Amino acid sequence: MPDLKKLLPPIPDSLKLQPRRAGTKNPGNALDQAAESGIHAGAWLDERLQLSGAVRWALFRKVPRHDWTYSLGSSVMFAFLSQAVTGVFLAMAYDPSTTGAYESIRYTTNEAFLGAFLRGMHKWGSTVMVVLVFLHMAQTFFYGAYKYPRELNWVIGVVLLILTMTMSFTGYLLPFDQRSYWATIVGVNINGTGPIAGPYLSDFLRAGPEFGAMTLSRFYAIHMLLVPGAIGAMIGAHLWLVMRLGTTSPPWNKPRKKADA
Ligand code: HEM
Repeated sequence: MPDLKKLLPPIPDSLKLQPRRAGTKNPGNALDQAAESGIHAGAWLDERLQLSGAVRWALFRKVPRHDWTYSLGSSVMFAFLSQAVTGVFLAMAYDPSTTGAYESIRYTTNEAFLGAFLRGMHKWGSTVMVVLVFLHMAQTFFYGAYKYPRELNWVIGVVLLILTMTMSFTGYLLPFDQRSYWATIVGVNINGTGPIAGPYLSDFLRAGPEFGAMTLSRFYAIHMLLVPGAIGAMIGAHLWLVMRLGTTSPPWNKPRKKADA
């Protein structure tokens, strides 16, 4: 049986208790004390949960140096989490009915405490997420990260891209103003022109032959339950594969010669 402790990445120095200098009792300033109490709390939890090995295996891994493009995937994930948090607060005041939707969004924007800020975060956050997804996809493409053995992760990525676009499409209708109403009718009609599945898809999105109250409920359910749940599950699978397979080295990194290995 291999020694698991040797396979795990070591605990980073910043998470270890620093030895005391002779003659001193407490760590120096308030900042050091705060850092040390954090480390103590972590050690207390780990003694009971025994999870630090798994967390180290998942989080502390080697990536090529000085290359910020490797942070694009995590940036998309952060954008998604920000959308989830701001979306929960927006949902607290949202009314998904054809008579109440516009008014509830007007209330959030003009009257609720920090409402305009929250709405702005969610609205601009959606654009940020779409831009980041494309940048992340371009990075993995140009680094050749779609090749063996990571093809499945690329396919999961494509599903994540479609789901992200679905979030933008379904969210656009929710303010239920003139622009979102007519733009969504155009979008649903475009879906309907697709071969074979197109008409079924547009019927499904409209929730029937007419665009109306059921359409708004359907878009809301897809936007806040179905797709975020699917994105969460897909991100889980995506990251699991990254943890199993590691990240791809940049194409300009030469393989090590035998003598250096
Ligand atoms: C919600 C959307 C997405 C999230 C949250 C996400 C997240 C991540 C994270 C955190 C990583 C590991 C760090 C990194 O290499 O950047 C990663 C890697 C990867 N992602 Fe994504 N991703 C998303 C969408 C996509 C899309 C659209 C594609 C391509 C179609 C894709 C393909 C890949 C591939 C191939 C890797 C492995 C990279 C390597 O081996 O270096 N991902 N993703």
